[in-house]
Amino acid sequence: MSNHWEKYWSEGHLTSFCGDFEENYEDEYSTFWKEKFSEVTAGNSVLDLATGNLALPVLGLSIPKDDIKYYAVDLSKISKNKICEKKSQLKEILNKIELFDQLNIENLNIFENEKFSLISSMYGFEYANEKKVLAEVSRLLSKGGRFVAIAHSENSIILNRNNQSLRCLNSILAKKGLLDTLERMSKAMRSIKSQKDLVDMKFNNVAEKLRSQLNQQLSGLDNSYKELFWETATPLFIQNFFSSLIGTNHKTRVDWINKKRRELHKHSLRLLDLKHAAINSMRKEIILNELETRNLELITWNTFLKDGHNVGAVIELKKV
Ligand SMILES: C[S@@+](CC[C@H](N)C(=O)[O-])C[C@H]1O[C@@H](n2cnc3c(N)ncnc32)[C@H](O)[C@@H]1O
Repeated sequence: MSNHWEKYWSEGHLTSFCGDFEENYEDEYSTFWKEKFSEVTAGNSVLDLATGNLALPVLGLSIPKDDIKYYAVDLSKISKNKICEKKSQLKEILNKIELFDQLNIENLNIFENEKFSLISSMYGFEYANEKKVLAEVSRLLSKGGRFVAIAHSENSIILNRNNQSLRCLNSILAKKGLLDTLERMSKAMRSIKSQKDLVDMKFNNVAEKLRSQLNQQLSGLDNSYKELFWETATPLFIQNFFSSLIGTNHKTRVDWINKKRRELHKHSLRLLDLKHAAINSMRKEIILNELETRNLELITWNTFLKDGHNVGAVIELKKV
């Protein structure tokens, strides 16, 4: 797995929406999943696909119910220790989860047939090849067992916001984009040793022209993307850049700019991943066509609503 997810998970976030859920999924999400997990009867096992930092198994284990075993798989490197560094109160619960990281959900042959009565996926299975995942889901579910997923889908507000953020990042990172202008301006500025050098910059026509171009780009991005632009922390970066100029030369400043580029690039890869993962009508068709040959029956395919907004598709299948 490319390390854009790994870096994110190593920061200890429990869900893939760290800005929205500091602890774990809440509200409609947690109500939905707790209901699903409470339907599992004692002695059975649950498998969470593309589990990330184990948000769903943690939710499942928060229900006071004994004798249900939770397994979890993710392609990225996932570290329980890293999660505990941020959330030490979870240590005991995490110890109860059987985690298989760096494992592709398209091939789960480490598990025997019909091992699970529930296979769950939260914004997860759609990142993989749906046919291969369904083949494994069918093999691993016991008769009457359920596959339940909330999946990214086209038309959801998450996808919409994601795609806008991507466009914003592209404008910042593009050739002749914001950071490019900043780099060209830095080059025109040369070394700045003292306050006097800073004041003299006003007489540097090339740098001043680029500074005004930069300001135009900044307000353009602010107008077009509003809080999505602020979430990239680029305005803060630019502010820090200008307040730390004394004692810098072009090389130092380019190092700062390149570090910011790398950070934003990683972020954009995660967003691009989500864009490609979202289930569109073609992938829905593929999934539906696959069901019969896999002994899976469609129970539900609906829009999942949070605060009245479409946040994805809820899919429920039954092994027959
Ligand atoms: C949006 S995150 C969701 C994580 C978690 N379910 C949650 O809701 O917090 C998607 C996860 O899918 C994982 N992933 C992507 N492709 C995968 C694959 N082929 N097999 C297993 N995991 C995969 C990524 O590593 C990432 O952790």
